[in-house]
Amino acid sequence: MDTYILGIESSCDDTSAAIIRERKILANLIANQQVHKDFGGVVPELASRAHQQNIIPVIQKAILTANIQKSQISAVAYTNGPGLLGSLLVGTSFAKSFALATGIPLITVNHMHAHILAHFIEDERQKTPPFPFLCLTVSGGHTQIVKVHSPYRMEVIGNTIDDAAGEAFDKAAKIMGLPYPGGPLIDKNAREGDPHKFRFPHPRVPGLDFSFSGLKTSILYFLRDELKKDPDFIQKNTKDLSASIQHTIVEILMKQLRNAVKQTGVSHVAMAGGVSANSGLRAAFTREAEQGNWEVYIPPFEYTTDNAAMIAIAGYFKYSSGDFASQDTVPFTRYGGD
Ligand code: KG4
Ligand code: ZN
Repeated sequence: MDTYILGIESSCDDTSAAIIRERKILANLIANQQVHKDFGGVVPELASRAHQQNIIPVIQKAILTANIQKSQISAVAYTNGPGLLGSLLVGTSFAKSFALATGIPLITVNHMHAHILAHFIEDERQKTPPFPFLCLTVSGGHTQIVKVHSPYRMEVIGNTIDDAAGEAFDKAAKIMGLPYPGGPLIDKNAREGDPHKFRFPHPRVPGLDFSFSGLKTSILYFLRDELKKDPDFIQKNTKDLSASIQHTIVEILMKQLRNAVKQTGVSHVAMAGGVSANSGLRAAFTREAEQGNWEVYIPPFEYTTDNAAMIAIAGYFKYSSGDFASQDTVPFTRYGGD
């Protein structure tokens, strides 16, 4: 009998539900929250209220789209961290009640592991990496290089010591007056800009770690000085500024990733998390592959930003090994908290 998993993601500002049959996605739906636009970032209290409004319709629609009966679902998997506590509680409460009411197993999923496991969704648009492989996990809250030994053993070998890469994109965009989340807008503007027009310093960080807070400060001071000379400086240079900032962030990421490949001898390299939607980062990965340095794994866009398909595939692995959670499991907010 086939295994069907209902996956639920509610760690930040997207309410998402997915249905997976074995390793194939039957439905992957996302309700985005528009309420944060005017605030320049996610407002936790508004996020949890919106999750409460969205969660039942999104799950109902996922079951309808997958064209299955509720009774066919083998287990419910949900994100139990890291993320915003109020947001996580909405998914947690729903998943627990659903498991209790239907008598099926409950499975907890680490959001960051799920980003990586999205590579194992059976989908003709992506290939699956062999173990061990390296994964650059870059999102709004995390920046890590992970050595993935198996679906159950992931070793973080590099981490940011301050801001995440997505945060660097979003903060740079905010300084330039672009709305939240600015990452995709910087990407869009960068396509027509000159990446070498402006130079920003690279951080000095030991080992395989990252730092992005210095970049934010240097952009802030650079623009403050330029705006004194020309108040329209940002408007006149939006594309070149975006391209130069994106180029700097991508170079910082790629440099440490090249070091990681050298250090570990592992040349199968994957990307995961929202920032892996970035076209500059994708192009840099593709170049490494074309030069014959790495075998690269670049997932389709919908599996990179927050989604429940990745929760469902992570749930599938846990289901296969009988790794179930109890009703008293509590969510955690920070990586390493589980
Ligand atoms: O993984 P994700 O969807 O949510 C978190 O778990 O944080 O990542 C969101 C982050 C945001 O910082 C957003 O600006 C960034 O991913 N992002 C991008 C792009 N698309 C999303 N950054 C740069 N270029 C993009 N195309
Ligand atoms: Zn994420």
